Amino acid sequence: MNFKAMTAIAVIATAPLAALAGPDEDKLVVNGEIEMVTKTAAPAHLSDALDEIYSGWRFRSDETQALQMDDFDNPAMVFVDQAQDAWDTVEGTEGKSCASCHDSVEESMAGVRAVYPKWNEEAGEVRTLAMQINDCRENKMGAEKWKYTGGQMAAMEALISVQSRGMPVNVAIDGPVKETWEKGKEIYYTRYGQLELSCANCHEQNYGNMIRADHLSQGQINGFPTYRLKNAKLNTAHARFKGCVRDTRAETFKPGSDEFVALELYVASRGNGLSVEGPSVRN
Ligand code: HEC
Ligand code: HEC
Repeated sequence: MNFKAMTAIAVIATAPLAALAGPDEDKLVVNGEIEMVTKTAAPAHLSDALDEIYSGWRFRSDETQALQMDDFDNPAMVFVDQAQDAWDTVEGTEGKSCASCHDSVEESMAGVRAVYPKWNEEAGEVRTLAMQINDCRENKMGAEKWKYTGGQMAAMEALISVQSRGMPVNVAIDGPVKETWEKGKEIYYTRYGQLELSCANCHEQNYGNMIRADHLSQGQINGFPTYRLKNAKLNTAHARFKGCVRDTRAETFKPGSDEFVALELYVASRGNGLSVEGPSVRN
């Protein structure tokens, strides 16, 4: 990290850096049965940078952590129920619902969240879950697309994530996605904004430290979409990226842009091996 970036972090850090060092050792078991991997060996492509990877859950307070340990306490579950209704609702010119083609979400979507973003052969592009959902809405149902980071999209992502909870994140980084992955990696290490900070400056070099009274995590997305106590709604990964880039006082990329799709693929791959947790709870 350069001197300016270090100064920037020192300036915005309000608590002494030693106050809370590193992730905690708590274990995450959801509903007393789904055992989550919240700490594991870093994937091979990160071996020069990190030894271990951690879910953001490990950096939250005990109170916030508890909200994710039981679905009755998890405020995101209301939205999952709403998405279940949407799944069964006929919409658009084709007179179809998601269920018309995919039947039960439990069976058809098990394991899906764990491998997204992924390559779509027919379209010849890397697709996020949101892109795929909108493709089905527009081209299979003849329905309006949902707003990329909107409430309906976030809720549907949550419903689909629930079907993979506890499974290891396992996005592909080679083959046809390689170019997009490289682009995402470049964005991750680029310093943006007046503060000249990259994602890595905060989430790779300073995780475990305090910044603006917040305990910095590795910025993983295995828990997305995530219910934030701060805004009391479900948040998508691209909305979070946008907020983080803004915090460096930079112009941000748009949710759904090629840049954020590439960044999502790259960030997801940094979490390969952690459990899918979505929808998680964060502050
Ligand atoms: C007319 C049938 C049809 C409808 C209706 C439909 N889909 Fe699909 N969906 C498909 C087909 C076919 C595929 C796989 C082909 C492809 O990759 O494009 C697919 C793929 C998907 C995938 C990716 C699965 C994977 O393994 O990668 C998701 C997620 C998805 N649909 C979600 C939805 C949601 C959510 C809705 C309702 C809002 C919906 N679909 C409505 C036909 C449909
Ligand atoms: C100035 C430091 C800083 C920079 C630079 C930064 N972030 Fe963050 N980020 C934070 C803070 C603070 C949080 C909230 C605490 C936490 O979860 O780490 C956060 C949270 C996140 C989360 C949520 C993690 C979770 O488990 O819910 C993700 C994902 C994330 N950042 C990704 C990124 C990406 C990608 C970039 C680069 C585009 C980036 N951040 C740049 C400070 C930063």
